[in-house]
Amino acid sequence: MANDVRTHLIGLLLGAEEDWPRAFESILSLVGPVEADGVTHSITSERVRIHPFDLTDPVRHGLVIDRLAYWYYHPREWLKKASLMNDTYLLNSPFTFQSMEKHSAYVAMLRLGMKIPKTVLVPYKNPVDNVRWAYTSSKYNDPFDLETIAADVGYPLFMKPFDGGGWRGVSKVKDVEGLHQAYDESGSMLMHLQATVDYDKFARALTIGPETMVMDFRPDEPMHNRYAVTHDFLSPQAGWEAETVSKVVNAFFGWEFNSAEMLVAGDEVYPIDYANACPDVAITSLHYYFPWAITALVRWSTYCLVTGRKSAIGVRNPREYFAIGDDPDRTYQEKMQAYRELADAEFETGRYWEWCDKNLPHLPERVLEWVESDDFDRLLTDTVRGHYPEHEHDKFIAHFRGLTGMWVTDQRG
Ligand SMILES: Nc1ncnc2c1ncn2[C@@H]1O[C@H](COP(=O)(O)OP(=O)(O)O)[C@@H](O)[C@H]1O
Ligand SMILES: [Mg+2]
Repeated sequence: MANDVRTHLIGLLLGAEEDWPRAFESILSLVGPVEADGVTHSITSERVRIHPFDLTDPVRHGLVIDRLAYWYYHPREWLKKASLMNDTYLLNSPFTFQSMEKHSAYVAMLRLGMKIPKTVLVPYKNPVDNVRWAYTSSKYNDPFDLETIAADVGYPLFMKPFDGGGWRGVSKVKDVEGLHQAYDESGSMLMHLQATVDYDKFARALTIGPETMVMDFRPDEPMHNRYAVTHDFLSPQAGWEAETVSKVVNAFFGWEFNSAEMLVAGDEVYPIDYANACPDVAITSLHYYFPWAITALVRWSTYCLVTGRKSAIGVRNPREYFAIGDDPDRTYQEKMQAYRELADAEFETGRYWEWCDKNLPHLPERVLEWVESDDFDRLLTDTVRGHYPEHEHDKFIAHFRGLTGMWVTDQRG
């Protein structure tokens, strides 16, 4: 008897990028039909178009990977409709990242006992643009002494927006003079003052569903050079902890595609920026790690669609985590272990890898062949040509070829 056949459509909601969607489309085509429980699943993707929609319109996409809705409200509201009305699986859910910016992420992980540097939120420098503000502010705003707060946090400190992103409005403040200058310049941005962490290593972890890559990040380097390819750059304990922080943050907030930045001093891991639920996955920044990242996106999307995993809608109930975090009898390490178990259960980590071994055993080898192919090389050269001035093309093509080639060699080894 012939198998039942089910087709699934993945929507890619995109900004200006061409590189990773092309890679995603190529790798998805390598997946082939997936036979599971007597059903043949065929999975394709398309780039989501933006147009007026009736709230009752059908949605054809079973899953959407979003790199746009953080910035544009129309597609964001469409995603919410697709999630609530049509049960479309979302990577990521706009319900959570709209309500959980950097500030809430600090607060929540602080309660779980993570090592968040001392952070103070101060009121706006400029009056809020609302006619009633003058009344409210004269009646209810307590005067405060910025210098005392800063002295308490300690110099040097970081002043940065409560929501943040892409270094916008971030400054390192060394003294009282710099403090006033930074605050004056903050204008209508709402600012945190945060203690500086003196770190040995900057770890940036990219997490896609149950897959996490902890990478050696150098924030002061130009974009193409920020990720160093160094394995074991952290001690086993710090490496485990960095991975755990990333997974726990994601499981806690319901993020399945997110990056986490952590400052590592010795064995201590300090998370500082981990609400990036629209992370950069460009080949020009990820290079060596790019094939892994796009494969993980394909693999996790395929798993979710074929197994019929249901998307979380809305902000999670954090009680299970808080019960662990609030327990005075558990050490930091015991708490982290307990959160990690919750996160692995949330992302079905064990089942996922077994499922991939059984249903997608051919994929890693096919991806390696594709990364060695002319098709991949065209993607790489097109991207470099679209990104850099002409006199730098040869240099950067060689640079990214070298790094992606090294990935293939390492995988084969
Ligand atoms: N507490 C801190 N200690 C040391 N460096 C910091 C701290 N906070 C921020 N930085 C530096 O400033 C950069 C930008 O801050 P971050 O919190 O990552 O904001 P953004 O969301 O803009 O990326 C970081 O990548 C790091 O280099
Ligand atoms: Mg950052």
